Amino acid sequence: MPNSPSDTPRRITVQRRGPLLVEGPVEVELEDGTTVSSDRFRVALCTCRRSRRYPWCDTSHRARSSGPDDGAASGG
Ligand code: FES
Repeated sequence: MPNSPSDTPRRITVQRRGPLLVEGPVEVELEDGTTVSSDRFRVALCTCRRSRRYPWCDTSHRARSSGPDDGAASGG
């Protein structure tokens, strides 16, 4: 994946109790050294590790965001 000084900075949006939203296309290297890629305009990277499609968010994080202190939980 090219990454030169002329490239536009890639925007990553942090969501409280949600995924990281990353402008695509992206290539993600996992702990085991394998890589996965997506050509989508924007991808949601799982930060809770509950996704069955890890590293992609499948909205499983919402299940744990239903406590009384989580009323403003954001989606993904
Ligand atoms: S952040 Fe993990 S499933 Fe959404």
